[in-house]
Amino acid sequence: MAVEITVSFTPVEFESLRQNNLRETGCVVFDVLRATSTMVTALANGAMGLKPVTQIDEALSLRRRHPDALLAGEREGLRIGAALTGGVDFDLGNSPREYTAERVGGRIIIMTTTNGTRALQACQAARQVAVGSFLNLKATVRWAAQSPMKHLILVCAGTGEEAALEDTLAAGAFCAAMVLGSPDCHPNDSAEIALRAYHHSQPNLTAAINGARNARRLLANVDLREDVELCLRRDVHELVAVLGPDGFVRTLG
Ligand code: MLT
Repeated sequence: MAVEITVSFTPVEFESLRQNNLRETGCVVFDVLRATSTMVTALANGAMGLKPVTQIDEALSLRRRHPDALLAGEREGLRIGAALTGGVDFDLGNSPREYTAERVGGRIIIMTTTNGTRALQACQAARQVAVGSFLNLKATVRWAAQSPMKHLILVCAGTGEEAALEDTLAAGAFCAAMVLGSPDCHPNDSAEIALRAYHHSQPNLTAAINGARNARRLLANVDLREDVELCLRRDVHELVAVLGPDGFVRTLG
C-alpha cells in the first residue's frame, strides 16, 4: 500500500492532530530527550505498561485508583516532587537510567512529562500509534512498513512550544529507513525537510544534537548529562511500543 509520510515539528500542531480524522493514519511519536526513549527503556526492562497523561492531577487521581502503579515524570526536567503535588513525591523522574529491571519489572507506570506524554495523547485517535526513539528505530520502521495505513505522521514532541532538533533528526532517520525499505512510501515536503536535515547531520549526529537546546540543558546538569548519550544509541532494543485504545503503551506482541 502507498504511504504518504508527514512530519509534525512542534507542539502547536498537536491541536490539529486532535481535530483531524486519523482513522487511516498511523503516528510515531518522538521525544528523543527523553520521554519516548525512557518509555522504550522501561518496556525493554520489563515494565508491564505505561499510561501517559498530560496533567499531574490526572496522574495522582489515577494512582489513587491503581495504588500499585509507579508515578513517574518530570517538570523542567526534574522528578516531580511534593511541592508540585501537595505532598506526593513521584517514584521516578524521566531519566532512562532510573527505569531498571529491578525498579520497573512487572509494574504499571503512570507518567506525565512536559511534551512527550502530551504528544502521545494528541495521537490517541489515530489508527495506530507507536512510541519512537533512536533506541528502537529499526524495529519501529519495520512495524510501520508492514502496517496497513495510507498516511504516517511522525510527531515530534519538541522543546517547550518549539521544534527540537533531536526529534526532527530522529524523524529524518526514520524517513530515510522507510524510503530505503518501502519503495511505495512518499515523503511530503515536511518529511523531506526532516530527511534533508538528517542527511546533512548524519556524519556527526551526536555533535549536532549535543548543540541543540534540549541536550544543552541536560548536559549542563551533572545528574542528567549521561542521559543524552544513552538516548542517542541506535537500535539497542528490538521492541515496538504501541499506544493501545485503552491509553496504555505496551510492547507489541
Ligand atoms: C518532555 O516530555 O518534555 C521531555 O522528555 C523533557 C525531559 O527531558 O525531561
